[in-house]
Amino acid sequence: MKLGLVLRLLLIGILISTTWTQVASGLMTSECLKNFLHLTLSMEHFKDKYLSFSAVDRSGITWELDEALASQCGYSITYSSRTSIVFRASALSCHSHLEKDVFTLTVQIKVSHTSDMKNATTHLKSASCPYGPWSPRELVCETNYMEVSVQRDILQIEKDIILNEPEDWILPYPEAKEGEASVWQIVFHQPEEKRALLVSDAWRAGYGLNTTETRILLRVPYNTAQIQLVKAQGITFSAVRSSTFYKQQWMILMVDTALACPVDGVNYINKTIIWTVPKYSQALCAGATGFKDVLVEAGVNLRKLSAEEMAFRKYVLSNDLNTITMKIPIGAEGGSYKTSVSSGKHGTIYSINLFLEHQWEDNKWGLTKYTIIKEIETPFEQAELAVTNNSNLSARLMNVTVGMFLLDVELVNLTIEGTAVTVPEATQHGYLTYEIQYPNGSKIYVIQVSFDALGIKKEYVTDDTREYTLNFTLKFIILPTSDTFAVPIVTVSAVKDAVLPSARGYCDEDDFHLIVTHGNVDQNWLPFISDQLLMPEIAQKYHYSLNDNGTHLTISVPFLSSLVDYKDIHISGVMASLHLTLKDGITLANKKDFSISCRFPPSELIQCLPNGTVVITAIKLVRLADLDTSLLVLRDKQCKPSLVTKKTATFKFNVNTCGTSRKFNSRSITYENDVLYFRPGNDIPVYQLKFICVYTIKHSAEVKYENKKNFPSSIKPGFGSLDLSLKLFKEKSYSEPYRELEYPVVKYLREALYFEVELLQPADPRLELNLEDCWATNSRSQDSLPQWPIFINGCENSEDSYKTVSHEVNYSHRVKFPQHFKRFEVTVFTFVQGTTLLQMQLYFHCSVVICSTTPLPSDIICQRRCNPGTHRLDRSAEPHPQGQVSSGAVLIRKEKTVRKGERTDF
Ligand SMILES: *[C@@H]1O[C@H](CO)[C@@H](O)[C@H](O)[C@H]1NC(C)=O
Ligand SMILES: *[C@@H]1O[C@H](CO)[C@@H](O)[C@H](O)[C@H]1NC(C)=O
Ligand SMILES: *[C@@H]1O[C@H](CO)[C@@H](O)[C@H](O)[C@H]1NC(C)=O
Ligand SMILES: *[C@@H]1O[C@H](CO)[C@@H](O)[C@H](O)[C@H]1NC(C)=O
Ligand SMILES: *[C@@H]1O[C@H](CO)[C@@H](O)[C@H](O)[C@H]1NC(C)=O
Ligand SMILES: *[C@@H]1O[C@H](CO)[C@@H](O)[C@H](O)[C@H]1NC(C)=O
Ligand SMILES: *[C@@H]1O[C@H](CO)[C@@H](O)[C@H](O)[C@H]1NC(C)=O
Ligand SMILES: *[C@@H]1O[C@H](CO)[C@@H](O)[C@H](O)[C@H]1NC(C)=O
Repeated sequence: MKLGLVLRLLLIGILISTTWTQVASGLMTSECLKNFLHLTLSMEHFKDKYLSFSAVDRSGITWELDEALASQCGYSITYSSRTSIVFRASALSCHSHLEKDVFTLTVQIKVSHTSDMKNATTHLKSASCPYGPWSPRELVCETNYMEVSVQRDILQIEKDIILNEPEDWILPYPEAKEGEASVWQIVFHQPEEKRALLVSDAWRAGYGLNTTETRILLRVPYNTAQIQLVKAQGITFSAVRSSTFYKQQWMILMVDTALACPVDGVNYINKTIIWTVPKYSQALCAGATGFKDVLVEAGVNLRKLSAEEMAFRKYVLSNDLNTITMKIPIGAEGGSYKTSVSSGKHGTIYSINLFLEHQWEDNKWGLTKYTIIKEIETPFEQAELAVTNNSNLSARLMNVTVGMFLLDVELVNLTIEGTAVTVPEATQHGYLTYEIQYPNGSKIYVIQVSFDALGIKKEYVTDDTREYTLNFTLKFIILPTSDTFAVPIVTVSAVKDAVLPSARGYCDEDDFHLIVTHGNVDQNWLPFISDQLLMPEIAQKYHYSLNDNGTHLTISVPFLSSLVDYKDIHISGVMASLHLTLKDGITLANKKDFSISCRFPPSELIQCLPNGTVVITAIKLVRLADLDTSLLVLRDKQCKPSLVTKKTATFKFNVNTCGTSRKFNSRSITYENDVLYFRPGNDIPVYQLKFICVYTIKHSAEVKYENKKNFPSSIKPGFGSLDLSLKLFKEKSYSEPYRELEYPVVKYLREALYFEVELLQPADPRLELNLEDCWATNSRSQDSLPQWPIFINGCENSEDSYKTVSHEVNYSHRVKFPQHFKRFEVTVFTFVQGTTLLQMQLYFHCSVVICSTTPLPSDIICQRRCNPGTHRLDRSAEPHPQGQVSSGAVLIRKEKTVRKGERTDF
């Protein structure tokens, strides 16, 4: 390979193979090979440095070599494998000193850390090589130039040219007379024209021209203008036909300095390199006849190989009538593989530096020695990499090997999760890398990665197994070209270490609570209830709460929520359940289900308000999937829900409406209704929720209910209180009662007391309040003695000298339902015992019965208004709620007359 004269040699990481140590015994070694001085620089000493080469001429002037000067003056610089740089100088290089058959050259090599070559270290190397005997014509095809030298005393005046092209003589003649140099002109024969150049012009055009004591020399770099491409037996040659004129004593002489080197002729068939070189090409042998092969030899790196060595290496050299052919199996000893990159993929190239020397005799030149140096590189061949993965489960390590690589490859970077890190940095991320070299010149890389390192994706597969996917990229650099390539690695290990999320749940009065303990597989699972994804952003809207503290996910959902499923409504409560599904965040596949069921008390569903309003919430059962909650009705189908959700319907209505039935009990009134659902055109409800409101006097004992099996559904009754009051008013107008603060109320004897008994709730206009007995005591207790009757069985006490007066109650702003009131007027009196005035304090009590405004004829208790003949304990009729009320204290002042002896002890 041709190189710039300033080389940047990048070698990171040092690998010394056995072959290498042999070569690199010193800084540089020199050898004399054929007509070349061969300097081999060990790369070891020049890694990561800039190099420049100069030739030192005999007067001590250094000529720094650039690419053009090198090819003009007979130098070449190539890499020979990755371990060394080869500097080759022709025996006839511009700066060689030839004496007898020994040539001497001094080379200066500068080594610097910087590209500007400042502060460079300088190495001088002088070497002498014997070379000889010289053939009359010697041709060399180097990698960067062609060279011909012709012995001066065998002058071949080209009769053809002289005879056919006499202008060759005429043109150069004037300059020839004046020229000082031995060589003074060169004429190129091109198809369209002949071109004569003076020596100085030829130099400027890149040609190397000179004479030695015995020889004429022409050197032509491959890129010069006068080169023609010609074919010989299908092989292309770079050729120059030229005649060189030189002065010798008084004569101007001309010599044929034709040059031709094959530029192709290499084929790759059946894993074999086939190099074909035509013999006696017209470009070299014009005008000659009588060809006779003298020698055909070949070798590697300018070293001749014997027939045995070739056979051992499976090389085949064949010399036919018209061609010489060399066959080298790809990979054979002598060449080397190197790593290369094509379209981002890495592969190998086999390269070998062959040479071929052909000597022949003909009648024009006598002996011609023709040496071709051929650097052959096979086409890029992609390399397959083997990746193995042996996980060490106990150490929780993935052990990945990648290979094979050649030794000219170095791992430089790892890309982990999109970030490139160097090998040492990768170690800090838990990616330990090292290489293992094999004696055959290959190596593998081992990458050890902790299971928990960055960039390892863990994915749940089945029951107890997680897949660990290691996905990273290795970046390699090829030396010395600094080309890079990347190798993506994806390897998967199955590890039985999955921990699934678990959950526990409970319910309190109003809510479901579910606590999910995260496992190690559910990082990307999403919680769903029904089809709804639970998200903190919408939790409030749906009345649930969601909290994830990293280890636990806590979910609370109210009993009355569209997320809840209702299985069954029962006397004892509602069977409700919540189904949480954890779904894969990407595929939404179900991964894990949790379910919690609880029985919620029916009190959640029913409220019996004091003003006679009932609030009942009916819920949609799972088995009635098609039930439309907005179509639920009460017994009176006009009564529709006031609030509807997907799963619930709430009704709000007065006990007096919507077909509510009513039932009296001894201490309570029971209202009953149903929430119903009818399919269109069907009179039999498919859904019936029976519910009851019981208004009990002073929250006395619960009322029994019927427990019908399953259908229709019913719930425990709701309770309200049946409230009564007995108030004292200031005047007969009954407009202003004494307020609580005004008790005890002070009254004089004989003053009138205005009492009002009221049914405070429920506000059911179909109820009527009736007085049974009213009586006075002188202590707070209703049962204390003595007592004075005021009403008996609904009749005013006829024994009283100051007769109690009942007042009619009419509708007013305050009195919405007159039937809920009774008013009566009592004259202030006091108890006496003997002649002693008893305590001057009175309390009044009444027992009442709640009746229907339209009592049945059989309903004796409610039929009568004042019926002294009927005993109040007559229980022949249906029971009615009865209650007792008491007034606050009334203090008696003495001024007025005492009721004397008119009361007796009880
Ligand atoms: C030049 O190189 C020498 C040794 O190689 C070093 O000590 C010196 O500092 C360098 N000077 C500069 C200017 O780089
Ligand atoms: C030709 O060769 C001589 C002797 O080797 C040398 O002194 C001279 O510089 C060379 N001329 C050129 C142009 O290379
Ligand atoms: C390829 O080479 C093998 C062994 O060297 C040989 O047996 C085979 O015939 C060759 N094939 C061709 C097409 O040349
Ligand atoms: C990893 O694999 C390499 C190559 O197979 C082996 O030499 C090494 O001992 C392994 N290391 C561990 C920790 O298993
Ligand atoms: C390697 O990574 C380092 C740090 O990210 C970066 O600076 C460097 O250019 C990378 N080298 C190659 C060859 O990609
Ligand atoms: C590996 O990672 C790259 C990018 O980081 C991504 O494009 C690719 O799909 C991943 N491959 C696998 C198998 O996960
Ligand atoms: C997360 O919540 C759970 C349940 O409420 C509790 O047991 C746990 O300690 C909490 N963890 C943290 C880290 O707060
Ligand atoms: C009954 O009371 C409830 C709660 O105080 C109230 O929302 C409702 O409007 C009342 N109904 C009537 C008819 O006054």
